Amino acid sequence: MRRFPQGFLWGAATAAYQIEGAHDADGKRPSIWDTFSHTPGNIERGETGDIACDHYHRYRDDVALMREIGLNAYRFSVSWPRVLPAGSGAPNRAGLDFYDRLVDALVANRIRPFVTLYHWDLPQALEDRGGWGARDTAAAFGEYAALMGRTLGDRVKDWITLNEPLATTTAGYIFGVHAPGKQDPRLAFQVSHHLNLAHGAAVRALRAAVPGANVGITHVSLPVYPASDSDADRAAARRYDGFANRWYWEPSLKGRYPQDILERLGPLAPAIEPGDLERVSPPIDFFGHNSYTRAIVRDDPVSVLTGVSQVPGPGPRTEMDWEIYPDHLSDSLTRITRDYAAPVIYITENGAAFADTVTDGKVDDPERTDYLRTHLTAAHRAIESGVNLRGYFCWSLLDNFEWAYGYGKRFGLVHVDYATQRRIIKASGRFFAKVAGENGL
Ligand code: FCB
Repeated sequence: MRRFPQGFLWGAATAAYQIEGAHDADGKRPSIWDTFSHTPGNIERGETGDIACDHYHRYRDDVALMREIGLNAYRFSVSWPRVLPAGSGAPNRAGLDFYDRLVDALVANRIRPFVTLYHWDLPQALEDRGGWGARDTAAAFGEYAALMGRTLGDRVKDWITLNEPLATTTAGYIFGVHAPGKQDPRLAFQVSHHLNLAHGAAVRALRAAVPGANVGITHVSLPVYPASDSDADRAAARRYDGFANRWYWEPSLKGRYPQDILERLGPLAPAIEPGDLERVSPPIDFFGHNSYTRAIVRDDPVSVLTGVSQVPGPGPRTEMDWEIYPDHLSDSLTRITRDYAAPVIYITENGAAFADTVTDGKVDDPERTDYLRTHLTAAHRAIESGVNLRGYFCWSLLDNFEWAYGYGKRFGLVHVDYATQRRIIKASGRFFAKVAGENGL
């Protein structure tokens, strides 16, 4: 049996827009994801998060499911426009009350809440004033963080400022496949700097509002391997690692932007004001690590920005068409420990989408169980080699609204029938319960 360290956290993760529904309930105003999903052509089958898993009304049942799976931690995000409908200014008491009740239910079940402040649903009201392209949005985020710290900080100590800034800038501002749907690389890199300022402001606000706060940021990690041994492909891998990983990790962890990427960006590089690099890098307590797959790249001058193109790996693939390559997890955990002296690491997301079916009221999903087993084994190997990994949050608790893919991709430990909102714990959920219960596999 591979045992995990004592006190290891066995959790699941979700995000507000993907599960809550209740998109206009009790004073909530739209986020950029409400706007984006309601715009024809953006989401498969025209689906929206209007109802999603109706978690806003069913959170008690969902906490009971967490308990049944034996989770001792749960990562969720707060919908900013639910608690601050105009993005700043007057809070919405009903919205705050929802998170109060959720946290109470978690604590009553001895499930440690990890709160993500930004999992992509910016208030539309702020978007209308320039969104992440406006430097002021970072200050508004600091005020929002303070509000949440004051509201939940007596019970919530674990805070994640941002989820995957890379996804916001690339999917939201370069490819336009996520809200707010822009295709503007110049703006994208400015946005990434404003996100870093927002992170810094939130860390300071949380430390001031929450005694004993444990604050981190969640980055996606995409380990990059060269397609061949040639110098050109190895340089391409280093460059792509710069765009996908170092550009995001270095500001928050080292207070700098990677010089090679700044040079390559040239006129696309963001405007950085004096003092900003200190502002974006207050000390943090942990590194939140989301990871699903790896990238294999070759040198390709045709792609102007990065100069690389991806080559499909040889391994089997999930429904997202992501290659299954468990070693990527141990490789990236060791790398973050080595290069960034990360104090503590949590895997804040890892999991897989497969096309599940319900038969006789059961969901048998051996591929997901296998994905979890092999990735947890890789995580365990990283711990043995000295990585200070303290917890694993599976993506996701429930099948949910998978952004531009709508409800077509199922990642849950728990199956959701969207027509009836009936939940069924999948075989992989039972497997995860066993691992959590034994603290090992
Ligand atoms: C991550 C997101 C999460 C989910 C998974 C599959 O990038 O943080 O919301 O969509 O991918």
